[in-house]
Amino acid sequence: MGKTAEGTLLKGKRILLVISGGIAAYKSLELIRRLRERGAAVRCAMTSGAEHFVTPMSVSALSGEKVASNLFSLTDEAEMGHIELSRDADLLVVAPATANILARMAQGLADDMATTLLLATDKPILVAPAMNVRMWVHPATQRNIEQLRKDGVAIIGPNDGEMACGEFGPGRMAEPLEIIAAIEAQLGKPLPRHLTLVSAARPAPTPASVQPLAQGLKGRRIIVTSGPTHEPIDPVRYIANRSSGKQGHAIAAALAAQGAEVTLVSGPVSLPDPPGVKTVHVESAREMFEHCFLNLPVDAVVCAAAVADWRVAVEAPQKLKKSGDLPPTLKLAENPDILRAIATTDPKRRPALVVGFAAETENVVAYARKKLQSKGCDWIVANSVAEGSGTFGGDRNTVHLVRGDSVEAKASVEDWPTMSKQDVAARLAERIAEHFSASRRKKDKSA
Ligand SMILES: Cc1cc2nc3c(=O)[nH]c(=O)nc-3n(C[C@H](O)[C@H](O)[C@H](O)COP(=O)(O)O)c2cc1C
Repeated sequence: MGKTAEGTLLKGKRILLVISGGIAAYKSLELIRRLRERGAAVRCAMTSGAEHFVTPMSVSALSGEKVASNLFSLTDEAEMGHIELSRDADLLVVAPATANILARMAQGLADDMATTLLLATDKPILVAPAMNVRMWVHPATQRNIEQLRKDGVAIIGPNDGEMACGEFGPGRMAEPLEIIAAIEAQLGKPLPRHLTLVSAARPAPTPASVQPLAQGLKGRRIIVTSGPTHEPIDPVRYIANRSSGKQGHAIAAALAAQGAEVTLVSGPVSLPDPPGVKTVHVESAREMFEHCFLNLPVDAVVCAAAVADWRVAVEAPQKLKKSGDLPPTLKLAENPDILRAIATTDPKRRPALVVGFAAETENVVAYARKKLQSKGCDWIVANSVAEGSGTFGGDRNTVHLVRGDSVEAKASVEDWPTMSKQDVAARLAERIAEHFSASRRKKDKSA
């Protein structure tokens, strides 16, 4: 969907954003920006808890409106009463929604400005819960969520992933762009396929369900490649690229968090080795190739490294010297194609799932589809590394998961919203875990 169409739907819509006191409150600032970019008018209300995490000044500056927080302010009430404020909006969004505000909403409490607005409104409400995983799976929170769902409140997220508190599981607030997709869904646009807006009954997670979720890859062996490669010209110079290894390292960590036994074959990066992962450090494409094959057989390979296509055909044994003559000409030779070699290796050694990455500067999905076929791999994670995308070296990524193993004749494509590289990694690890549990179920059925 292009920018114009996105802008049209939210253009002129009035969103009342309630920010409650969770660590994810900083993301609500981005949410305000994204909504305003799309032409929506945003009014904000903050709980007193929220003011510990973001300042009313930032919220007011970004929304361009006064923030509502004090229910008993004579001036505020005279300017726009709380009842009017709660009804003036087209939609109320609570992001982040703490366990506490969800409980208060479920009980129908109106003990501050935020909850009073939420109770007094006659407009739809969307909540984006965000909390520690144990708080989320607590029966009390699940009871409250169930009550809110019955009351007609829409719920987006929470996502699974690593939390600020270091635990892993459901509880991370949906990303701002996912919340926007959910807002648009409330306003009539179909929700993208990869998002779920809870409005129908779904089984409540239990504390026991947190562990299996993080252990979906227990017993699986997976190789991940990450980082750039350095192709030597002489003993002191090399050809390299701008890959930081952040995405590949995050994938190795996320797979390990799902219980997989991970070998990370890493080119030169300035990142620490991920905990719980066996890391092999290599320099060149040929070393990376060798160490990938040394570690076969495995269940899956994720080739996230930015492997140099070419190396210098003959590495100079001594440092090349400037002479008065012409500069030296570097003759290049093609490097081994690690992804293709693994994907097309002897079927007895071929991993059941081979995932490649395609970093493109244009026509990202079209090139990814081609790459899927030319390399013989099963999935391609395609991302744009065009100038201005901030992908190389940055902390966020916008990817498309192109799957050649879909039941449809054509490769299926999932467009993921822009998110942190950790979130991309966690989601990819989840998809891989789902893939293996689906293949196991298929096997069991046919046995
Ligand atoms: C550092 C810190 C982070 C917190 N993060 C969260 C959170 O992410 N989610 C949550 O439900 N509560 C979180 N809390 C607890 C809430 O701030 C607390 O329950 C508060 O009463 C919420 O009030 P409110 O819902 O009125 O904003 C956190 C507390 C602290 C001190």
